Amino acid sequence: MLNSKIVGTGHYVPDNVVKNKDLESVMETSDDWIVERTGIHERRHIVLGGEDTTSTMGTKAAKMALKNANLQPDDIDFIIFATLSPDYYFPGPGVLVQEQLGMKSEIGALDVRNQCSGFIYGLSVADQFIKTGMYTNVLVIGSEVHSGGLDMTTRGRGVSVIFGDGAGAVVMQAIDNNKTGVLSSHLHSEGKHAEELSLISPSTTDWVPNFIERNDPEDIRYYPYMNGNFVFKNAVVRFQQVIMEALNHNGYKPEEIDMLIPHQANLRISQFIQKQMNLPDSKIFNNIQKYGNTTAASIPIALSEAVAEGRIKEGDLLCLAAFGSGFTWAAALIRW
Ligand code: UT7
Repeated sequence: MLNSKIVGTGHYVPDNVVKNKDLESVMETSDDWIVERTGIHERRHIVLGGEDTTSTMGTKAAKMALKNANLQPDDIDFIIFATLSPDYYFPGPGVLVQEQLGMKSEIGALDVRNQCSGFIYGLSVADQFIKTGMYTNVLVIGSEVHSGGLDMTTRGRGVSVIFGDGAGAVVMQAIDNNKTGVLSSHLHSEGKHAEELSLISPSTTDWVPNFIERNDPEDIRYYPYMNGNFVFKNAVVRFQQVIMEALNHNGYKPEEIDMLIPHQANLRISQFIQKQMNLPDSKIFNNIQKYGNTTAASIPIALSEAVAEGRIKEGDLLCLAAFGSGFTWAAALIRW
């Protein structure tokens, strides 16, 4: 039976490091507050107008993943790109990557809009295409540019100190063996909470001309909104539920996990899940301290770093889990 296996990982983050101290000069915040509530020490921001965009960072991460997989761009059969911060309103960045990688083949490119869960949703789609025999090599990318769209004033501090820019990618490949690779993926949503973590304008329900007509400087619906406490409380429940769902589906117990890579939403959330699952520090990977929350990019960046650091060995049971805007949440269990 065909299964899908991750055969290459890669990531890219912009050089520009923004430390908590740097934020103190533009808003009322403190290194102590940010570290205590989120675990974040610094994040990366692109230089506006520079060469880094959501698609170009995704392409850089993809090049590293292709190199590690020992493949050329034209070996890829399909591109999946997860982001909430595309270069353009449309088209999505998948087609831009197809061009930037210099692909001769006119393969399909799919854009995924599932925010923090976007990478696992994308991985799940790739897994299904591979398991049915439709594609052999699929590139899955998560990339975000948050920095240009954040309210970098005291008014926006509850959101803007958390998010950072970056990209991660994997190459998934068909293997004729169902003992390794993606064992299962589990996807969920609860749309009644759509606006608890959202950016609702400009959009087809509130076009730019409405803003111009209202001419109200306090109308800040073009900045992301997050009901932080409510999101936090839902996250800690949903993370545990979906991880247990993945384990139960495959007949495993929490202690059999070799490595858990949670979406890097907040270090306190990761630590809460670690405690709930009774996992030692060696079995969880966090890098939010360096990058902040990079939404769809956080899991593939963490995965790429964990692989590069030798934290994941052949045969390990790897669990990926995410929760975020939608609400959407998801998990994937992988035999490495
Ligand atoms: O990736 C998608 C999923 N996202 C998440 O899972 C994020 C979930 N939520 C969180 O991580 C946390 O709710 C936050 C880190 C966003 C906020 O932490 P909190 O402990 O929930 O703080 P809070 O929003 O309840 O705010 C507490 C106080 C408030 O002041 P008052 O009203 O008590 O005087 C805020 O105004 O902290 C204030 N505050 C800040 N102070 C300094 C909020 N942001 C900041 C800041 N610096 N950056």
